[in-house]
Amino acid sequence: MARDAAGSFLCGFGRASCQKFFAICLLSLLLSHVTLAQPSAKVNPSIASQRPLWRAGEAEVVIYRIPLLSYTPGGRLLAVAEARKYTGGDAGPKFMVIRRSLDDLGDEWEPMQVIVDDGYLTFDGLNLGNIIVDDEKAIIFIMFTVCNHHDGCDVTSTKLIRSLDDGVTWSKAMNISEQIGTQVFAPGPGSGFQKKYAPNKGRLVSCGHGSLYTDGIYCLLSDDHGMTWFWGGSVIGIPYGQEKVEGDFVPDECQGVELPNGTIMINARNQYRFKCPCRIVAWSFDGGETLPIQDVYQVEALIEPACAAGLLYHRNVLLFSNPKSTTARVALTLQWSYDNGTTWNGEYQIWDKASGYSTMTAHPGASQYIFILFEKGITLTTESIEFVRVSLYEDV
Ligand SMILES: *[C@@H]1O[C@H](CO)[C@@H](O)[C@H](O)[C@H]1NC(C)=O
Ligand SMILES: *[C@@H]1O[C@H](CO)[C@@H](O)[C@H](O)[C@H]1NC(C)=O
Ligand SMILES: *[C@@H]1O[C@H](CO)[C@@H](O)[C@H](O)[C@H]1NC(C)=O
Repeated sequence: MARDAAGSFLCGFGRASCQKFFAICLLSLLLSHVTLAQPSAKVNPSIASQRPLWRAGEAEVVIYRIPLLSYTPGGRLLAVAEARKYTGGDAGPKFMVIRRSLDDLGDEWEPMQVIVDDGYLTFDGLNLGNIIVDDEKAIIFIMFTVCNHHDGCDVTSTKLIRSLDDGVTWSKAMNISEQIGTQVFAPGPGSGFQKKYAPNKGRLVSCGHGSLYTDGIYCLLSDDHGMTWFWGGSVIGIPYGQEKVEGDFVPDECQGVELPNGTIMINARNQYRFKCPCRIVAWSFDGGETLPIQDVYQVEALIEPACAAGLLYHRNVLLFSNPKSTTARVALTLQWSYDNGTTWNGEYQIWDKASGYSTMTAHPGASQYIFILFEKGITLTTESIEFVRVSLYEDV
Protein backbone atom coordinates (compact mmCIF):
# COMPACT_ATOMS: atom_id res chain seq x y z
CA MET A 1 0.00 0.00 0.00
CA ALA A 2 2.66 2.48 1.01
CA ARG A 3 4.67 1.49 -2.05
CA ASP A 4 1.69 2.08 -4.37
CA ALA A 5 1.01 5.45 -2.82
CA ALA A 6 4.64 6.51 -3.10
CA GLY A 7 4.78 5.20 -6.65
CA SER A 8 1.72 7.21 -7.56
CA PHE A 9 3.15 10.27 -5.93
CA LEU A 10 6.49 10.08 -7.76
CA CYS A 11 5.16 8.94 -11.13
CA GLY A 12 1.87 10.79 -11.27
CA PHE A 13 -1.46 9.16 -12.10
CA GLY A 14 -1.83 6.57 -14.88
CA ARG A 15 1.87 6.04 -15.57
CA ALA A 16 1.92 2.27 -15.09
CA SER A 17 5.40 1.54 -16.50
CA CYS A 18 6.97 4.10 -14.19
CA GLN A 19 5.15 2.61 -11.22
CA LYS A 20 6.36 -0.87 -12.24
CA PHE A 21 9.94 0.40 -12.48
CA PHE A 22 9.63 1.94 -9.05
CA ALA A 23 8.28 -1.31 -7.63
CA ILE A 24 11.23 -3.27 -9.09
CA CYS A 25 13.67 -0.76 -7.56
CA LEU A 26 12.07 -1.25 -4.17
CA LEU A 27 12.06 -5.02 -4.55
CA SER A 28 15.76 -5.19 -5.43
CA LEU A 29 16.55 -2.88 -2.52
CA LEU A 30 14.67 -5.28 -0.27
CA LEU A 31 16.45 -8.31 -1.77
CA SER A 32 19.89 -6.75 -1.35
CA HIS A 33 19.01 -6.14 2.28
CA VAL A 34 18.04 -9.81 2.67
CA THR A 35 21.37 -10.83 1.09
CA LEU A 36 23.27 -8.67 3.58
CA ALA A 37 21.42 -10.29 6.47
CA GLN A 38 22.55 -13.77 5.36
CA PRO A 39 25.34 -15.46 7.35
CA SER A 40 28.92 -14.70 6.25
CA ALA A 41 30.29 -15.64 2.84
CA LYS A 42 30.28 -19.29 1.85
CA VAL A 43 33.39 -21.28 2.68
CA ASN A 44 35.34 -22.22 -0.45
CA PRO A 45 38.68 -23.63 0.73
CA SER A 46 41.93 -23.94 -1.16
CA ILE A 47 45.45 -24.67 0.07
CA ALA A 48 47.42 -21.42 -0.16
CA SER A 49 50.75 -22.86 1.01
CA GLN A 50 52.15 -25.82 2.92
CA ARG A 51 55.44 -27.14 4.27
CA PRO A 52 56.70 -29.68 6.80
CA LEU A 53 57.89 -28.11 10.08
CA TRP A 54 59.33 -31.37 11.44
CA ARG A 55 60.38 -34.66 9.85
CA ALA A 56 61.04 -37.96 11.65
CA GLY A 57 64.77 -38.48 12.27
CA GLU A 58 65.66 -34.77 12.14
CA ALA A 59 68.14 -33.66 14.85
CA GLU A 60 68.54 -37.33 15.85
CA VAL A 61 65.01 -37.41 17.23
CA VAL A 62 63.11 -40.63 16.43
CA ILE A 63 59.74 -38.97 15.77
CA TYR A 64 57.89 -35.72 16.31
CA ARG A 65 54.28 -35.90 17.44
CA ILE A 66 51.37 -33.94 18.97
CA PRO A 67 51.28 -30.70 16.95
CA LEU A 68 50.12 -27.52 18.68
CA LEU A 69 49.66 -24.28 16.75
CA SER A 70 48.56 -20.79 17.74
CA TYR A 71 48.54 -17.22 16.58
CA THR A 72 50.69 -15.03 18.84
CA PRO A 73 49.92 -11.67 20.44
CA GLY A 74 52.59 -10.17 18.13
CA GLY A 75 50.78 -11.38 15.00
CA ARG A 76 52.96 -14.39 14.20
CA LEU A 77 52.41 -18.15 14.46
CA LEU A 78 53.85 -20.52 17.04
CA ALA A 79 54.15 -24.29 16.43
CA VAL A 80 54.98 -26.74 19.24
CA ALA A 81 55.63 -30.50 19.19
CA GLU A 82 56.91 -33.40 21.26
CA ALA A 83 60.34 -34.58 20.08
CA ARG A 84 60.36 -38.22 21.18
CA LYS A 85 64.06 -38.85 21.71
CA TYR A 86 64.56 -42.62 21.50
CA THR A 87 61.22 -44.36 21.09
CA GLY A 88 57.95 -43.50 19.42
CA GLY A 89 55.64 -44.36 22.35
CA ASP A 90 53.63 -41.86 24.41
CA ALA A 91 55.79 -42.47 27.50
CA GLY A 92 59.57 -41.97 27.31
CA PRO A 93 61.94 -38.99 27.39
CA LYS A 94 61.28 -36.01 25.14
CA PHE A 95 62.15 -32.46 24.24
CA MET A 96 59.45 -29.85 23.85
CA VAL A 97 60.31 -28.09 20.60
CA ILE A 98 58.95 -24.94 18.98
CA ARG A 99 59.18 -23.10 15.69
CA ARG A 100 58.15 -19.46 15.28
CA SER A 101 57.03 -17.98 11.99
CA LEU A 102 58.80 -14.82 10.82
CA ASP A 103 55.58 -13.44 9.32
CA ASP A 104 51.85 -13.55 9.88
CA LEU A 105 51.16 -16.16 7.17
CA GLY A 106 53.66 -18.87 8.06
CA ASP A 107 55.72 -18.49 4.88
CA GLU A 108 59.06 -18.27 6.73
CA TRP A 109 59.96 -20.10 9.95
CA GLU A 110 62.82 -19.85 12.41
CA PRO A 111 64.77 -23.08 13.02
CA MET A 112 63.58 -25.47 15.71
CA GLN A 113 64.31 -24.50 19.29
CA VAL A 114 64.26 -26.83 22.34
CA ILE A 115 62.41 -25.10 25.18
CA VAL A 116 61.98 -27.98 27.67
CA ASP A 117 64.18 -31.06 28.11
CA ASP A 118 62.81 -33.68 30.50
CA GLY A 119 66.20 -35.37 30.89
CA TYR A 120 67.69 -38.62 29.65
CA LEU A 121 66.90 -40.99 32.51
CA THR A 122 63.20 -40.30 32.73
CA PHE A 123 61.00 -43.21 31.76
CA ASP A 124 57.77 -41.28 31.45
CA GLY A 125 58.60 -37.82 30.21
CA LEU A 126 56.59 -34.78 29.22
CA ASN A 127 53.42 -34.82 27.13
CA LEU A 128 51.66 -31.98 25.29
CA GLY A 129 49.56 -30.05 25.88
CA ASN A 130 47.66 -26.84 25.24
CA ILE A 131 48.85 -23.46 23.97
CA ILE A 132 46.88 -20.69 25.64
CA VAL A 133 47.14 -17.06 24.53
CA ASP A 134 46.23 -14.38 27.07
CA ASP A 135 45.41 -11.52 24.69
CA GLU A 136 44.75 -9.05 27.52
CA LYS A 137 48.31 -9.41 28.86
CA ALA A 138 50.06 -10.59 25.66
CA ILE A 139 51.26 -13.79 27.35
CA ILE A 140 51.64 -17.20 25.68
CA PHE A 141 51.32 -20.26 27.94
CA ILE A 142 52.05 -23.90 27.21
CA MET A 143 50.42 -26.34 29.63
CA PHE A 144 51.81 -29.88 29.65
CA THR A 145 52.11 -32.92 31.84
CA VAL A 146 54.94 -35.08 33.18
CA CYS A 147 54.64 -38.75 34.20
CA ASN A 148 51.20 -39.06 32.69
CA HIS A 149 51.37 -42.85 32.25
CA HIS A 150 53.03 -43.79 35.56
CA ASP A 151 55.63 -45.68 33.56
CA GLY A 152 58.63 -45.88 35.90
CA CYS A 153 57.34 -42.98 38.04
CA ASP A 154 54.44 -42.54 40.46
CA VAL A 155 53.42 -38.89 40.56
CA THR A 156 51.87 -36.96 37.67
CA SER A 157 52.58 -33.23 37.52
CA THR A 158 50.72 -30.65 35.42
CA LYS A 159 53.11 -27.89 34.40
CA LEU A 160 53.00 -24.49 32.80
CA ILE A 161 55.60 -22.35 31.03
CA ARG A 162 54.99 -18.86 29.75
CA SER A 163 56.49 -16.34 27.35
CA LEU A 164 56.15 -12.59 27.75
CA ASP A 165 57.99 -11.81 24.49
CA ASP A 166 55.88 -13.54 21.83
CA GLY A 167 57.58 -16.92 22.21
CA VAL A 168 61.24 -15.83 22.02
CA THR A 169 62.09 -16.73 25.63
CA TRP A 170 60.28 -19.03 28.05
CA SER A 171 59.98 -19.15 31.83
CA LYS A 172 60.96 -22.06 34.02
CA ALA A 173 58.10 -24.53 34.45
CA MET A 174 55.60 -23.79 37.21
CA ASN A 175 54.19 -26.94 38.84
CA ILE A 176 50.44 -26.31 39.00
CA SER A 177 49.90 -29.70 40.66
CA GLU A 178 50.81 -27.79 43.82
CA GLN A 179 47.45 -26.02 43.31
CA ILE A 180 45.27 -28.68 41.67
CA GLY A 181 46.77 -31.91 42.98
CA THR A 182 48.43 -34.76 41.15
CA GLN A 183 45.38 -36.26 39.44
CA VAL A 184 46.31 -37.19 35.87
CA PHE A 185 45.34 -34.34 33.55
CA ALA A 186 46.42 -34.35 29.91
CA PRO A 187 45.63 -30.90 28.45
CA GLY A 188 44.22 -30.78 24.91
CA PRO A 189 46.06 -31.58 22.85
CA GLY A 190 45.46 -28.33 21.03
CA SER A 191 44.62 -24.86 22.28
CA GLY A 192 43.17 -23.45 25.44
CA PHE A 193 41.73 -19.95 25.15
CA GLN A 194 40.90 -16.75 26.94
CA LYS A 195 37.19 -15.95 27.21
CA LYS A 196 36.38 -12.89 25.10
CA TYR A 197 32.73 -12.59 26.16
CA ALA A 198 30.71 -12.76 29.37
CA PRO A 199 30.33 -14.78 31.51
CA ASN A 200 33.85 -14.71 32.96
CA LYS A 201 35.43 -12.52 30.28
CA GLY A 202 39.23 -12.73 30.58
CA ARG A 203 39.23 -16.22 32.10
CA LEU A 204 41.78 -18.75 30.80
CA VAL A 205 40.26 -22.13 29.92
CA SER A 206 42.34 -25.27 29.35
CA CYS A 207 40.42 -28.50 28.77
CA GLY A 208 41.83 -31.99 28.45
CA HIS A 209 41.30 -35.53 29.67
CA GLY A 210 42.21 -37.88 32.51
CA SER A 211 44.01 -41.20 32.85
CA LEU A 212 42.78 -44.43 31.28
CA TYR A 213 40.81 -45.36 34.43
CA THR A 214 39.64 -41.88 35.39
CA ASP A 215 39.13 -40.69 31.85
CA GLY A 216 36.67 -38.04 30.71
CA ILE A 217 36.80 -34.35 29.82
CA TYR A 218 38.14 -32.00 32.51
CA CYS A 219 38.76 -28.25 32.38
CA LEU A 220 41.25 -26.12 34.32
CA LEU A 221 40.42 -22.43 34.75
CA SER A 222 42.37 -19.33 35.77
CA ASP A 223 40.94 -15.88 36.57
CA ASP A 224 44.29 -14.20 37.29
CA HIS A 225 46.18 -14.58 34.00
CA GLY A 226 47.60 -18.00 34.78
CA MET A 227 48.95 -17.47 38.31
CA THR A 228 46.42 -19.78 39.98
CA TRP A 229 44.33 -22.57 38.47
CA PHE A 230 41.27 -24.42 39.69
CA TRP A 231 39.13 -27.31 38.44
CA GLY A 232 36.15 -26.45 36.27
CA GLY A 233 33.57 -28.84 34.88
CA SER A 234 33.97 -32.43 33.76
CA VAL A 235 32.18 -35.14 31.81
CA ILE A 236 33.44 -38.37 33.33
CA GLY A 237 33.74 -41.65 31.46
CA ILE A 238 31.60 -44.62 32.48
CA PRO A 239 32.34 -46.96 34.24
CA TYR A 240 34.47 -44.51 36.21
CA GLY A 241 37.71 -45.78 37.74
CA GLN A 242 37.46 -49.15 36.04
CA GLU A 243 38.89 -50.94 33.05
CA LYS A 244 37.01 -49.92 29.92
CA VAL A 245 35.82 -52.07 27.03
CA GLU A 246 34.71 -51.33 23.47
CA GLY A 247 31.42 -49.42 23.50
CA ASP A 248 31.98 -47.67 26.87
CA PHE A 249 31.35 -43.93 27.18
CA VAL A 250 34.77 -42.27 27.38
CA PRO A 251 35.20 -38.73 26.05
CA ASP A 252 38.96 -38.27 25.77
CA GLU A 253 41.27 -35.79 23.98
CA CYS A 254 39.27 -32.65 23.30
CA GLN A 255 39.25 -29.12 21.88
CA GLY A 256 37.11 -26.26 23.19
CA VAL A 257 36.01 -23.01 21.52
CA GLU A 258 34.04 -20.01 22.72
CA LEU A 259 31.00 -18.93 20.68
CA PRO A 260 30.09 -15.22 20.36
CA ASN A 261 27.38 -15.56 23.04
CA GLY A 262 30.00 -16.65 25.60
CA THR A 263 29.01 -20.31 25.56
CA ILE A 264 31.85 -22.87 25.40
CA MET A 265 31.64 -25.86 23.07
CA ILE A 266 33.97 -28.85 23.50
CA ASN A 267 34.46 -31.50 20.84
CA ALA A 268 36.00 -34.75 22.11
CA ARG A 269 37.47 -38.02 20.92
CA ASN A 270 35.09 -40.93 21.51
CA GLN A 271 37.72 -43.35 22.74
CA TYR A 272 35.71 -46.62 22.77
CA ARG A 273 33.18 -45.75 20.03
CA PHE A 274 30.22 -45.32 22.37
CA LYS A 275 27.12 -45.63 20.14
CA CYS A 276 29.04 -44.74 16.96
CA PRO A 277 32.59 -44.09 15.75
CA CYS A 278 31.82 -40.37 15.93
CA ARG A 279 32.60 -37.30 18.04
CA ILE A 280 31.19 -36.31 21.43
CA VAL A 281 30.18 -32.67 22.09
CA ALA A 282 29.83 -31.00 25.50
CA TRP A 283 28.81 -27.43 26.39
CA SER A 284 29.41 -25.01 29.21
CA PHE A 285 27.18 -21.98 29.83
CA ASP A 286 29.05 -20.81 32.93
CA GLY A 287 32.60 -20.20 31.73
CA GLY A 288 33.70 -23.83 32.02
CA GLU A 289 32.59 -24.35 35.62
CA THR A 290 30.13 -27.08 34.66
CA LEU A 291 29.68 -29.26 31.57
CA PRO A 292 26.07 -30.41 32.12
CA ILE A 293 25.58 -34.06 31.15
CA GLN A 294 22.10 -33.32 29.78
CA ASP A 295 23.69 -31.15 27.07
CA VAL A 296 26.21 -33.78 25.93
CA TYR A 297 25.47 -35.35 22.57
CA GLN A 298 27.15 -37.10 19.66
CA VAL A 299 27.55 -35.93 16.09
CA GLU A 300 27.06 -38.76 13.63
CA ALA A 301 28.27 -36.55 10.78
CA LEU A 302 31.69 -36.21 12.43
CA ILE A 303 33.09 -39.73 12.09
CA GLU A 304 36.52 -40.60 13.48
CA PRO A 305 38.97 -43.46 13.97
CA ALA A 306 39.42 -42.36 17.68
CA CYS A 307 41.93 -39.53 17.25
CA ALA A 308 42.59 -35.99 18.42
CA ALA A 309 40.94 -33.37 16.18
CA GLY A 310 40.95 -29.63 15.54
CA LEU A 311 38.06 -27.24 16.23
CA LEU A 312 37.97 -23.51 15.45
CA TYR A 313 35.33 -20.79 15.36
CA HIS A 314 36.26 -18.19 12.75
CA ARG A 315 34.10 -15.57 10.99
CA ASN A 316 30.91 -17.11 12.40
CA VAL A 317 31.74 -20.52 10.96
CA LEU A 318 32.57 -23.60 13.04
CA LEU A 319 35.47 -25.56 11.54
CA PHE A 320 36.53 -29.14 12.31
CA SER A 321 39.59 -31.10 11.16
CA ASN A 322 40.34 -34.81 11.56
CA PRO A 323 41.14 -38.00 9.67
CA LYS A 324 37.68 -38.59 8.19
CA SER A 325 37.49 -42.37 8.55
CA THR A 326 35.97 -44.80 11.05
CA THR A 327 38.80 -47.31 10.69
CA ALA A 328 42.17 -45.68 9.94
CA ARG A 329 44.11 -42.47 10.50
CA VAL A 330 43.93 -41.35 6.87
CA ALA A 331 42.42 -38.51 4.86
CA LEU A 332 42.77 -35.30 6.87
CA THR A 333 39.59 -33.39 6.10
CA LEU A 334 38.32 -29.93 6.94
CA GLN A 335 34.57 -29.68 7.59
CA TRP A 336 32.46 -26.62 8.31
CA SER A 337 29.13 -25.68 9.81
CA TYR A 338 27.18 -22.42 9.42
CA ASP A 339 24.88 -23.13 12.37
CA ASN A 340 27.25 -23.76 15.27
CA GLY A 341 27.57 -27.47 14.55
CA THR A 342 23.89 -28.40 14.24
CA THR A 343 24.42 -29.35 10.60
CA TRP A 344 27.71 -29.81 8.72
CA ASN A 345 27.60 -28.05 5.39
CA GLY A 346 30.76 -28.93 3.48
CA GLU A 347 34.12 -30.64 3.47
CA TYR A 348 37.53 -30.28 1.84
CA GLN A 349 40.22 -32.94 1.88
CA ILE A 350 43.63 -31.62 2.93
CA TRP A 351 45.57 -34.89 2.47
CA ASP A 352 44.41 -38.30 1.25
CA LYS A 353 47.03 -40.54 2.92
CA ALA A 354 48.23 -41.12 6.50
CA SER A 355 46.91 -38.33 8.77
CA GLY A 356 46.91 -38.23 12.57
CA TYR A 357 46.45 -35.47 15.14
CA SER A 358 45.55 -32.02 13.85
CA THR A 359 45.01 -28.55 15.27
CA MET A 360 43.84 -25.24 13.80
CA THR A 361 44.28 -21.55 14.52
CA ALA A 362 43.52 -18.18 12.91
CA HIS A 363 44.57 -14.63 13.65
CA PRO A 364 41.91 -12.67 15.55
CA GLY A 365 39.74 -10.67 13.15
CA ALA A 366 38.30 -11.42 9.74
CA SER A 367 41.26 -12.89 7.84
CA GLN A 368 40.39 -15.21 4.96
CA TYR A 369 43.08 -17.65 6.18
CA ILE A 370 43.16 -20.41 8.75
CA PHE A 371 46.22 -22.49 9.63
CA ILE A 372 46.37 -26.24 10.20
CA LEU A 373 49.21 -28.28 11.71
CA PHE A 374 48.88 -32.06 11.42
CA GLU A 375 50.66 -35.40 11.54
CA LYS A 376 51.21 -36.38 7.91
CA GLY A 377 52.78 -39.28 6.03
CA ILE A 378 52.69 -41.45 2.94
CA THR A 379 52.30 -44.65 4.95
CA LEU A 380 52.78 -43.62 8.61
CA THR A 381 51.24 -40.62 10.38
CA THR A 382 54.56 -40.10 12.21
CA GLU A 383 56.59 -39.25 9.11
CA SER A 384 56.23 -35.48 9.48
CA ILE A 385 54.33 -32.58 11.00
CA GLU A 386 52.91 -30.45 8.22
CA PHE A 387 51.85 -26.79 8.28
CA VAL A 388 49.05 -25.80 5.89
CA ARG A 389 47.67 -22.35 5.21
CA VAL A 390 44.13 -22.63 3.94
CA SER A 391 42.27 -19.80 2.23
CA LEU A 392 38.61 -20.16 3.23
CA TYR A 393 37.21 -17.37 1.07
CA GLU A 394 37.90 -15.87 -2.29
CA ASP A 395 37.26 -12.36 -0.97
CA VAL A 396 40.06 -9.88 -0.16
C1 LIG B 1 54.53 -31.02 41.65
O1 LIG B 1 53.72 -30.82 42.79
C2 LIG B 1 53.18 -32.00 43.31
C3 LIG B 1 52.23 -31.60 44.45
O2 LIG B 1 52.88 -30.83 45.39
C4 LIG B 1 54.30 -32.90 43.79
O3 LIG B 1 53.78 -34.10 44.34
C5 LIG B 1 55.19 -33.22 42.60
O4 LIG B 1 56.27 -34.02 43.00
C6 LIG B 1 55.69 -31.95 41.97
N1 LIG B 1 56.35 -32.30 40.73
C7 LIG B 1 57.59 -31.96 40.46
C8 LIG B 1 58.12 -32.42 39.14
O5 LIG B 1 58.29 -31.34 41.23
C1 LIG C 1 24.79 -19.77 22.58
O1 LIG C 1 24.75 -20.24 21.27
C2 LIG C 1 24.69 -21.65 21.16
C3 LIG C 1 24.78 -22.01 19.70
O2 LIG C 1 23.79 -21.41 18.96
C4 LIG C 1 23.44 -22.20 21.82
O3 LIG C 1 23.42 -23.61 21.75
C5 LIG C 1 23.43 -21.77 23.27
O4 LIG C 1 22.25 -22.17 23.90
C6 LIG C 1 23.59 -20.25 23.38
N1 LIG C 1 23.80 -19.92 24.79
C7 LIG C 1 22.96 -19.16 25.47
C8 LIG C 1 23.33 -18.88 26.89
O5 LIG C 1 21.94 -18.70 24.97
C1 LIG D 1 25.44 -19.41 16.44
O1 LIG D 1 25.58 -19.01 17.78
C2 LIG D 1 25.60 -17.61 17.98
C3 LIG D 1 25.76 -17.36 19.45
O2 LIG D 1 27.00 -17.76 19.86
C4 LIG D 1 24.32 -16.99 17.49
O3 LIG D 1 24.40 -15.58 17.61
C5 LIG D 1 24.09 -17.37 16.05
O4 LIG D 1 22.83 -16.89 15.65
C6 LIG D 1 24.14 -18.87 15.89
N1 LIG D 1 24.02 -19.19 14.48
C7 LIG D 1 23.07 -19.99 13.99
C8 LIG D 1 23.00 -20.11 12.52
O5 LIG D 1 22.32 -20.64 14.71
